[in-house]
Amino acid sequence: MIRQSTIDQIFSAAAVEEVVGDYVKLKRSGSGMGGLCPFHNEKTPSFKVSPNLGIYKCFGCGRGGNVIDFVMEIEKMNYPEALRHLASKYHIEIEEDQANKEELSEQVKLREGLYAALEFARNYFYKNLHDDEEGRTVGYSYFKERGLTDQTIESFGLGYGKNSWEAFHKVATEAGYAEDVLEKAGLIKERNRTEEEADVSYYDVYRERVMFPIHNVGGKVVGFGGRQLRSDKKSPKYINSPENEVYHKSSVLYGLYQAKKAIRTQETVYLVEGYLDVLMLAQSGIENVVATSGTALTPDQVKLVKRFSENVTMLFDGDSAGIKAAMRGVDLLLEGGLNVKIVVFPEGEDPDSYCRKLGGTGLTEFIEAEQKDFVRFKTEILLKEKGDDSVGLSETAREVVETIVKIPDPLKRNAFIKQTANILQFDEALLMAEAKRIKNAATKAFNRQASARDQATFIEPVPTLTPDLTQEAHNKEQAILESLILYCDESYDEEIDVAGFIFSELEEDAYVFEDPEFAECIEQAKEYYTFNDSLDESFFTKHRVLGKMAADVLSVKYKLSPVWLETHEIYVTPDSENYLQVVIDNLNYLKLYKISQVYAKEMKKLQEAETEEDSKIAQARVFKILEIRKTITAKLGIEGAIPE
Ligand code: UTP
Ligand code: MN
Repeated sequence: MIRQSTIDQIFSAAAVEEVVGDYVKLKRSGSGMGGLCPFHNEKTPSFKVSPNLGIYKCFGCGRGGNVIDFVMEIEKMNYPEALRHLASKYHIEIEEDQANKEELSEQVKLREGLYAALEFARNYFYKNLHDDEEGRTVGYSYFKERGLTDQTIESFGLGYGKNSWEAFHKVATEAGYAEDVLEKAGLIKERNRTEEEADVSYYDVYRERVMFPIHNVGGKVVGFGGRQLRSDKKSPKYINSPENEVYHKSSVLYGLYQAKKAIRTQETVYLVEGYLDVLMLAQSGIENVVATSGTALTPDQVKLVKRFSENVTMLFDGDSAGIKAAMRGVDLLLEGGLNVKIVVFPEGEDPDSYCRKLGGTGLTEFIEAEQKDFVRFKTEILLKEKGDDSVGLSETAREVVETIVKIPDPLKRNAFIKQTANILQFDEALLMAEAKRIKNAATKAFNRQASARDQATFIEPVPTLTPDLTQEAHNKEQAILESLILYCDESYDEEIDVAGFIFSELEEDAYVFEDPEFAECIEQAKEYYTFNDSLDESFFTKHRVLGKMAADVLSVKYKLSPVWLETHEIYVTPDSENYLQVVIDNLNYLKLYKISQVYAKEMKKLQEAETEEDSKIAQARVFKILEIRKTITAKLGIEGAIPE
């Protein structure tokens, strides 16, 4: 476990506006800063950052929290990963509790080990390119021949694996990297053994290959592509790293780490097929480019792209054998709600070769002139394939409509159907009817499948909360936490502050929070309060669980937003004049909830009483409870609102 002192250090070093600023263009706005939300697509900024409070909040999609929440959300990291990410950004040394270090799950250890080995390998290959005789004459000169500059080589961390069976194995094991980890990372492989040989031995995977490190969005090396330098039919042109605990091919895009800023500012991303396509375009000033690296586009990659931009332009090789496969990619992107354009390169050219021919500006002009939306692209290809007689036309129309129905936005769907009707000179109403039919059939098929699934395995409804915790308890308890966050250090009276008052009230009623997560939070807050004799907002904004809730309520309190969200069910008002009433009301609502539960229990006893004596006792208790309830409802000013 990472020590609290390290976490504190991270919080004080990592200014929220700075960390967020790496992803969002922030401008001064009111008491804080604002910009376009990086988590959802928007045209007018509803994303706010408060440097004072150390929080961010989007009033469009509702996401908010502290700087660690932000990193977790945007980089899709878990809590410790986000801490480590920020620690390395701010050069903070991570201290861990010795006792818990052993408890660190095997999984985490393995991932850390893989990352370290891959990073080591990257540095080794990179160094070869510059400091090694063979690396210079073979690897470096190859890159030069391909027209790559030193700057491109550096920013993409390109390298060279030597023509040797053991050069890497030797330095890596000498540096202390375990063979099983290196093997898992795909850097070495076990040698076939004869029966006499007892020992396992390994050989280098990347021999006489130029190396392209593959980074995840956070910039960590997760794998490599290694290109052979002689065309040797026996081994593949590229060797790519295997899947492992840190490399999931389906959710990585080559070049995204280097491209993400440009993608955001250009508001569009170019999707290409190869490593060298990415490098050459980026070098020529077209930096918003990523590659699928030989695999067909996956739904996870679509989601990944969508985090950065809604507009994708696919660039296909002229000789792309897999235009059909490429069309599936188009469908996936459309299904993901993205806007898709397609550019097909001339026969025999790929983005890399054509870019070298035309230069960056020339290529941009070519793309601008040649890009087609998917309707035009698909109709042209299909008509060529099927012919433009009436059969070819109607088959083409049907296939294009099949793609169109996948688009989630109904307005866009309609516009594309209009366009298809136009291009094919087809009756629009007919196409519309066809689209409806296809959509209905798909829905029915989906429902049939779903009900078959349900019958096969009984699926329990997913409980949103722990089984015996009611939503009501959760809401009431949340209201208490919210008032604690908002008003903890305001004074309740001359002697005690609001935090002290809330804690003493809860203690007096011996109220135990039903939501286990909230129960832990309130215990921690109490402990902190007891120890420091005070609580302030920063305890909550930095809290692992409550950070998001704090961002929610504080961003409203400090009017980071000009709008009061009517739909958001908030029990607290930002009106600080009233805060005592708010605190007291929230406590009373909690008591009312508790007392109603006791009331129900006693009523049941009364109904089940067997002797007159039992019945009398139960009756007395019920009356007592009703009395207490009355005083509470009176305090809340809601007498009569609850039936007796
Ligand atoms: P290409 O064969 O088009 O290679 O494969 P390229 O990128 O244009 O490379 P050069 O210009 O010949 O040097 C396109 C992409 O498909 C993947 C690689 O990611 C490659 O960049 N690929 C190709 C593999 O993963 N393995 C292979 O054996 C071949
Ligand atoms: Mn090429």
